[in-house]
Amino acid sequence: MIKEIVKTTLLNCSLEESDILKYKNQVQVIHNTLPQFELTGWINAPLQDQQEILVSIERVASEIRECADVLVVVGVGGSFLGARAIQEAIMPYFGSTKGGIEVVYVGLNMSGAYIKQLLSYLDKKQVYINVISKSGGTMEPALAFRVMRHYMEERYGKKSKERIIVTTDAEKGILKGIADKAGYRQFVIPATIGGRYSVLTPVGLLPVAAAGVDIRALMAGAKHATEELLESDLSHNDAYKYAVMRHMLYKKGYSIELLASFEPGLNKFHEWWKQLFGESEGKEKKGLYPSTVNFSTDLHSIGQFIQDGSPIMFETLLHFHEIEGDLQVPFDSRNEDGLNYLSNRTFNEINTISKQGTALAHSEGGVPIIQLELPKLDEYHLGYLIYFFMKACAMSACLLEVNPFDQPGVEAYKRKMLELLKEN
Ligand code: PA5
Repeated sequence: MIKEIVKTTLLNCSLEESDILKYKNQVQVIHNTLPQFELTGWINAPLQDQQEILVSIERVASEIRECADVLVVVGVGGSFLGARAIQEAIMPYFGSTKGGIEVVYVGLNMSGAYIKQLLSYLDKKQVYINVISKSGGTMEPALAFRVMRHYMEERYGKKSKERIIVTTDAEKGILKGIADKAGYRQFVIPATIGGRYSVLTPVGLLPVAAAGVDIRALMAGAKHATEELLESDLSHNDAYKYAVMRHMLYKKGYSIELLASFEPGLNKFHEWWKQLFGESEGKEKKGLYPSTVNFSTDLHSIGQFIQDGSPIMFETLLHFHEIEGDLQVPFDSRNEDGLNYLSNRTFNEINTISKQGTALAHSEGGVPIIQLELPKLDEYHLGYLIYFFMKACAMSACLLEVNPFDQPGVEAYKRKMLELLKEN
């Protein structure tokens, strides 16, 4: 087995290994005190016996796959981003879904057009709902669930009760009350795990299991990461190395971190990463702005800025050595496009070389680059990477001396919106 599942390296940085290691003691202290924060149940969760919960998720997921064409997940922020990230990273780009069914999301915006079109789209399809909210009172999913509940009751009558699954707190919240009263089946979001750290609980696992993702492999990868990243020594913990590197670049004046991938299936994974770091670190007027790009698409749009624009960003290149599915460039006797010199190569090989070329060019443009390499894009390595980023994020926020697990700033917009809604 490869020891380092995620290999963190610096491709072009004015950071010296010896300077990175100066953080050793600070990292050790944070590592030891991290579990004292509230909402750190995720740190050891993958090491606990998951058998019972996995069996019950698999049972419900298999029922959903049997009885529905579409699973509608109602949720926002940490209650949907992780599931969508895994689903899109693992499932095929087009059509068939590895034995799973289509999973769509609602409650992540307030667009009337979106929800209206969703209802028409569901017509003639068999539907299940999974409404996910830890607090049970977030406006966007609460409003969407009101609509979806009416829809299900109109379509399925009393039987709608069997087709609505609730994922929420074990004891409190409006949604918990609704679920108890209506007799909906429920999955619990552990009280000790906050939204953006909850993807490896039923929050993320039920939707992706319905989509056809192998959640056992995902959790095995997360368990492997949990074991390896229990290491408190910075020199042997790549998640902590990554946290320190990005912290040092921030201290050097870089204000934006660009997470860059070369596989379009990772676009939604980027969104999950953005929330994790943005909501965990952006407080008290501190924090790197987390942004993302998908190459080569974005090389033809924002690539110009990265290469030549304001020197405010560094890049974190996420590279999977093996991607399932590939195609050789065909030989063409006409060679009118002059591309026969590539006909002994596959697209994935060309993509890897494009990554190397991009890294070299951006380095020359003065952009510091951190590279995160993984052997393969599959459930196991994705599970590992998810845990890797959560651990790195918690360390990184603590280096900034902010609480990684709260989000006081999000309340501000909610208060203003409610004031306006109640005024008019
Ligand atoms: O990370 C968080 O805690 C937030 O992003 C929440 O996930 C998001 O606000 C949704 O909250 P809830 O699950 O309570 O509806």
